[in-house]
Amino acid sequence: MHKIAVIPGDGTGPEVVAEGLKVLQAVSESQGFDCETVEYDLGGDRFLKTGEVLPAAALKELGTFDAIYLGAVGHPDVAPGVLEKGLLLKLRFELEQYINLRPVKLYPGVDCPLKGKGPEDIDFVVVRENNEGLYAGSGGFVYKGTANEVAIQEMVNTRAGVERCLRYAFDYCRRRDDKKMLTLCAKTNVLTFAHDLWWRAFEEVGEEYPDITRDYAHVDATCMWMVKNPEWFDTIVTCNMFGDIITDLGAMIQGGMGIAAGGNINPDGVSMFEPIGGSAPKYTGQGVINPLAAICAVSMMLDVLGEADAAQRIERAVMHVTAEKVKDLGAGRMGYSTSEVGDLVIEAL
Ligand code: IPM
Ligand code: MN
Repeated sequence: MHKIAVIPGDGTGPEVVAEGLKVLQAVSESQGFDCETVEYDLGGDRFLKTGEVLPAAALKELGTFDAIYLGAVGHPDVAPGVLEKGLLLKLRFELEQYINLRPVKLYPGVDCPLKGKGPEDIDFVVVRENNEGLYAGSGGFVYKGTANEVAIQEMVNTRAGVERCLRYAFDYCRRRDDKKMLTLCAKTNVLTFAHDLWWRAFEEVGEEYPDITRDYAHVDATCMWMVKNPEWFDTIVTCNMFGDIITDLGAMIQGGMGIAAGGNINPDGVSMFEPIGGSAPKYTGQGVINPLAAICAVSMMLDVLGEADAAQRIERAVMHVTAEKVKDLGAGRMGYSTSEVGDLVIEAL
């Protein structure tokens, strides 16, 4: 029995989560395992009604599940940062989900914006550090609101935090059936303290993985290669901020936010899975948003829960749907409604 907490969240989150849960139910019935889901009403609407973002009791309960399934966080009537920091980042930090795992994989049939590139060229994984860096919240203002204002936001890198992320990346790369090459994406020529630490740790930890080739690219060059030669990459490991940025680029080359999923992983604790796109307020309630990313997040979740067969069945079903039915993944352009796309995946299971 897998106990799963569900946070549908804001905007189109609930619509896509409903499709993910439909697929979860179908695959669990046919594979013969049980899932119990408990829904949590967290997000912008709850905050606007009650002033609560993530009550301490809810956080404590969430820590007792086997996994968390999240829709989207972000509300047009709530100031930037309140929900992002108070809910999404707080869960990532408090539950020590120190890895953000983001596969970049072009599925068959999906229109790729890169000329001449196909599914055989775009298939790599980004391992993003998820607890530190510029996201740590260290810094502050001096003379705020005056002409002399100073704003400092510090990039926090701990040797332990960097090392556990690197180890996860080396292990993940080893498990992947690819080139056995791990690329460190950083900026060692400018961030001569922070990324010097990353570089030294990469070299030292890498000694323990003689079967994995070590590769390095500055973050700007990584962006260039992702567009020019995406086939070069196998596994990329990077800091929190760079990982945030390059995975949006990654989502675009795999066909858009409609298909991009990610996992916030605590290898020894509770992990949380989500479509990586936002709450898309302008599409809310219209049934036009693509649920495939949310469905792929269910696949990633089942893989981590030890249901590898079910995870693969979902992925294959999604590939069938992109190859045969839903060619344009954009909201409103799929040729099917949100729930029809969910039905197509279930049919293809
Ligand atoms: C993401 C998002 C978040 C991030 C925001 C919503 C805080 O962009 O999951 O990539 O920056 O990590
Ligand atoms: Mn992002």
